[in-house]
Amino acid sequence: MTVTSRPIGTTTTTLIEQTAWQALKASILYYQGHPIGTIAARDTSVDTLNYDQCFMRDFVPSALAFLTRGDVEIVRNFLIETLALQSQEKHMDYFKPGQGLMPASFKVQIVGDQEQIIADFGEQAIGRVTPIDSCLWWVILLRAYVKATGDSQLASKPEFQDGIRLILDLCLAAAFDMCPTLLVPDGAFMIDRRMGVYGRPLEIQVLFYAMLKSAQELLLLNDQNLLYLNAVEERLNHLSAHLQEYYWLDFKHLNEIYRYKEEEFGDRAVNKFNIYPETIPQWLIEWLSKTAGYYAGNIGSGWMDFRFFALGNLMTIITGLATYEQSQAIMNLIEQRWNDLVGQMPMKICFPALQELEWKILTGCDPKNAPWSYHNGGHWSVLLWVLVAAAVKVGRTEIAQKAIAIAESSLQTDEFPEYYDGRYGHLIGREARKYQTWTIAGYLVAKAIITNSEHLSLISNENLVMSRVV
Ligand code: GLC
Repeated sequence: MTVTSRPIGTTTTTLIEQTAWQALKASILYYQGHPIGTIAARDTSVDTLNYDQCFMRDFVPSALAFLTRGDVEIVRNFLIETLALQSQEKHMDYFKPGQGLMPASFKVQIVGDQEQIIADFGEQAIGRVTPIDSCLWWVILLRAYVKATGDSQLASKPEFQDGIRLILDLCLAAAFDMCPTLLVPDGAFMIDRRMGVYGRPLEIQVLFYAMLKSAQELLLLNDQNLLYLNAVEERLNHLSAHLQEYYWLDFKHLNEIYRYKEEEFGDRAVNKFNIYPETIPQWLIEWLSKTAGYYAGNIGSGWMDFRFFALGNLMTIITGLATYEQSQAIMNLIEQRWNDLVGQMPMKICFPALQELEWKILTGCDPKNAPWSYHNGGHWSVLLWVLVAAAVKVGRTEIAQKAIAIAESSLQTDEFPEYYDGRYGHLIGREARKYQTWTIAGYLVAKAIITNSEHLSLISNENLVMSRVV
């Protein structure tokens, strides 16, 4: 079957865009002669580790860039091949990936005289971290593909419908706690090292929300799916209410926490998680103005993680989880705290950095995650596309333009690094790969969206109604 996307508008490309397109194409991974993904980085000057593999999360900006150009085959192939990698078996063997799980990454290897796709579910990864975000991104990407191509037949195939249901089984299964959020171990997403992001980190919750929204659009209406659709609807309502009520942090809510009573028991408790006001960090009191706000990084018993996480917050805007007022407040925060959050490369992954004893305890003395480096307050230019998408969605185009201009001033000369270090992101990351694919693709997606905001519909969870076949 030949599938094409509906190209949106026309564009003229600049030199940096042309270089970026060439670099993106050079990163394509082939299987039996067909493009199936992009490798994480093309930097031969450092130890390759697993950067020669296609990471599910890293492929998302690549896929979006290809879709905006009408290159849909690679995305379709990726979806088909990764679906085949999904763990399908129901078993009780804890040495095997759980049913429904998607790998962190995969590579193409010659075994005998045959090419084979070999998946890594985290059992090879540094620190053996589990890639919970992979299956969430897969559903989100499937929806983006359908949106770009109109090819609802692919998503309607029995194996695709099965794949979505398996992911829902995994995410909606009864667990040990009674919260609508997903309980996950440390390092289960883009931040794939110990960083105190276990429990209910914002980024996983927002991707979970986007996955449920996407599944709602992709599942066909039939007897088998009805149960799932009802469960998805119910979970979405509880999840969004929970995140909006407990994670949202503006000046008013901060003041409420500041005056919280403690040790409240029973239904009428206001301070439900028993957060002690003494845990409000000093920097926050001075940092948050009356017109700004953001979603906190995490909430658990006696614990609110007050750090600002960029991807989670920007995705609340893109997915429509944040209200209009909240979206504007997040954008106000970014504008007001530009040096802290954007600095010299859009944008900082989280703010502030963990320091001293906190760094020792929460990262396990991880030198790669030293303060203001890598995941611990480093700047990741892949986040440019997410910032631009969020800003354009809520009419703050000047923020998007400013961010793109900053990125353009150094990305190409710096050879598209993986990340930047330093309080303001002015140093190329100490261990950053050059020609990091999602840096390149993220830039291209940002350019595509600023040039034509209709591309936003690929990732924004509104207005896709699939033809539902019974
Ligand atoms: C690092 C990042 C992770 C990314 C991978 C490949 O491990 O932390 O988010 O997927 O590199 O680029």
